Amino acid sequence: MNKNILIIPGDGIGQEVTTWGKKVLEAIAQKYNHTFHFDTALMGHVAIEATGNPLPDETLAKAKTTDAILFGAIGHIKYDNDPSAKVRPEQGLLKIRKELGLYANLRPIKLFDELLGASSIKPEILQGADILFFRELTGDVYFGEKKRSEDRLTASDLMVYSAYEIERIAHKAYKAAQTRSKKLCSVDKANVLESSRLWRETVQKIALQYPDVATEHMFIDNAAMQLIKDPKKFDVVLTANLFGDILTDEASQIAGSMGMLASASIGDSVGFYEPIHGSAHDIAGKGIANPLASILSVALMLDISFGLQNEAKNIISAVEKTLKQGYRTADIADKTTTENMRCSTQKMGEIVIQNL
Ligand code: IPM
Ligand code: MG
Repeated sequence: MNKNILIIPGDGIGQEVTTWGKKVLEAIAQKYNHTFHFDTALMGHVAIEATGNPLPDETLAKAKTTDAILFGAIGHIKYDNDPSAKVRPEQGLLKIRKELGLYANLRPIKLFDELLGASSIKPEILQGADILFFRELTGDVYFGEKKRSEDRLTASDLMVYSAYEIERIAHKAYKAAQTRSKKLCSVDKANVLESSRLWRETVQKIALQYPDVATEHMFIDNAAMQLIKDPKKFDVVLTANLFGDILTDEASQIAGSMGMLASASIGDSVGFYEPIHGSAHDIAGKGIANPLASILSVALMLDISFGLQNEAKNIISAVEKTLKQGYRTADIADKTTTENMRCSTQKMGEIVIQNL
């Protein structure tokens, strides 16, 4: 197979972790006789520094013509405490999602048994949990009209959805549910929000086309509680942009650490793959970030964009083996991790590649 892959490292630890995502792609290419051509582009704070624009035209042009994108992370502390900044790194990520029509964000949450001790949740509650989130990614308050009154003392973000936006992601979620345990939970706030009432109405209609899938509707506040209380009761979860953003960070504790979670953003054309963790400037440049979420994002890319299921499974097994052997970056280490098993980003990456 011959494919073009665009790497957008972005900010903070994004640089360090995508280095290892790329090295894993190179190792896979060699082992399975594929040819991957790599290109790189700027986005986020690094792009603002270089060009003044968080998503330079050149990056967007490259993104529109490649076969798949591996992204690192976005954000810089400089902006977090400066709400008045007009140009912000995150605008780059939001714009590329919109421009590429990446309306479905898949976030699989699965705990590797070896990491039972790394989570703050009791092991007996976690064991066996396996959830696939479908987070809508190009609508909601993220993209609704934003306003500030003239005296600057009142502000609003419009929470808006159209039926077609709900339908297209619902179909994707139902199709995935058919290949899993045939259960889908749609999360909304239909007791309060009109956009959620449209969400629920639309999902109820789509559900009729998938009689083999059992549908449950849950309010977001209840879902946030149930997710921690009994994660095993969820399988496919379908939700809107903001609710999905919050629930999937919460769900990272079910997978042991944010450093483990990969995601795929898909729509009608190119696929975009990224860890769900952020730029983590507090540890950036120290060589201690966990590269596994980026490596697992590569597995999602091979599976979803290129249909290379064996190669994807090979990566997941290599990660599993690495964890079984006891290697741990700081975020997934616990009291039982001995000094010689604690590793840097580089060591972790090298062991995974050896295990490939
Ligand atoms: C995510 C992130 C982004 C989001 C930020 C960086 C804009 O939190 O991908 O979950 O809110 O979607
Ligand atoms: Mg988030």
